Amino acid sequence: MDTILIKGGKSLNGKIDIAGAKNACLALMPLTLLTEDKLTLTNAPKLSDINTFKQLLESLGAEIEFKKSGREIILSTPEIKTVRADYEIVRKMRASNLVLGPLLAREGHAIVSLPGGCAIGARPMDIHIDALEMLGAKIDLRDGYLFATAAKGLKGCAINLPFASVGATENLIMAASMAKGTTIITNAACEPEVGDMIECLISMGAIIEGKGTSKIIIEGVSQLYGAKHAVISDRIEMGTYMLAPIIAGGEVEIIGGNIKLLEAFSEKLISIGVTITNSLDGVIVKGPDDRLQAIDVKTEIYPGFPTDLQAQMMALLTTANGTSILHETIFENRFMHAPELIRMGAKIDISGGKAVVEGVSRLKGAPVMATDLRASVSMILAALAAEGETVVNRVYHLDRGYENVEEKLSNCGAIIERIIT
Ligand code: EPZ
Repeated sequence: MDTILIKGGKSLNGKIDIAGAKNACLALMPLTLLTEDKLTLTNAPKLSDINTFKQLLESLGAEIEFKKSGREIILSTPEIKTVRADYEIVRKMRASNLVLGPLLAREGHAIVSLPGGCAIGARPMDIHIDALEMLGAKIDLRDGYLFATAAKGLKGCAINLPFASVGATENLIMAASMAKGTTIITNAACEPEVGDMIECLISMGAIIEGKGTSKIIIEGVSQLYGAKHAVISDRIEMGTYMLAPIIAGGEVEIIGGNIKLLEAFSEKLISIGVTITNSLDGVIVKGPDDRLQAIDVKTEIYPGFPTDLQAQMMALLTTANGTSILHETIFENRFMHAPELIRMGAKIDISGGKAVVEGVSRLKGAPVMATDLRASVSMILAALAAEGETVVNRVYHLDRGYENVEEKLSNCGAIIERIIT
């Protein structure tokens, strides 16, 4: 298993390119199951999660080709060969459950393994199941698999989600896009990645109103067609790299992202003295000249502070002046990075969904363990500023969601290298 070695203390100067959004691409790829025509996705990120999803979709009958070294993905599913999404693949990546809605819409049945829990939580699917059953599906759980059927087809109706689940919203929209009649979803997730999927579906012939809002109205159609769609930029990758020059010092231009998708996050940074200046190709980020001030953070559904940037923000606040409270409201166990940061000298107290971080003057490098995707990159951020050497283990977590981290950071002056073992 590869490890990443970082020697902390170097300030960063240079440019970092932002790739297409992992969580948008993972919601766009299953759209191939809704049409026999060709779906082309451009600006795709080159990540292991994308490869995992390619494997799963091909097992269902999709023909998928990567072009332009993986930046362009061409998908077509002339026929569905099987409706069974196997545990071996689904357990590796929860987003695999996004084949449930499209398989039900196209084939009227699906057998999808429950993904099982992961480091950040139990990750149940009750909201997906209840919503799809309201559309007329019958879903039973047997041997760890969801057996879903819609013998009479799916029928549109009004559905209020108990929680604005991103995945449940996406599964529901895909299913409803080919249901009979109108579906009105209230309390829908309005993350930009959901909006990107809606935009692509509309270009495939779906009739959907309310993109970007929590009320989505879908007029079911009998057929969807091919399309060509550019994946939106990755706001979480952008936010992650915005923190690098703040934690390590220096000034970095983040290229290709869309700062408008990070309003809650950037407002927090600006309130503690960070400067974020628009440039021709993106934004230039620089930390305050004196020590960063502590600040409280509460994760919320979009457009609130993203849970996917909580671990990275904690890494930043471990050396702030004062005490910060991070309140994680989306996942029940998303503080696995805290014990690793404590190994680096951070002072963090976890109780319930809150982490109380008492700023220390400087972290010290140490061997640490990546436990999940965002925790792994928070280790990297902490290591950039820590005194001495840090070795991050299990970096396969990192490769799920970040392209060439060591290259992007070393191009800005960081002393970072991957040790291939
Ligand atoms: C998506 O996961 C993202 N993944 C996550 O990003 C992100 O953290 C999350 O949305 C929240 O923004 C992808 O888009 C592939 P949810 P998803 O359904 O859809 C509970 C990353 O690091 N819940 O909005 O699985 C659930 O347990 C990943 O890139 C139910 O209780 O998130 C969680 O506590 C991590 N029942 C909360 O809702 C359900 O049926 C949010 O889950 C569904 C969800």
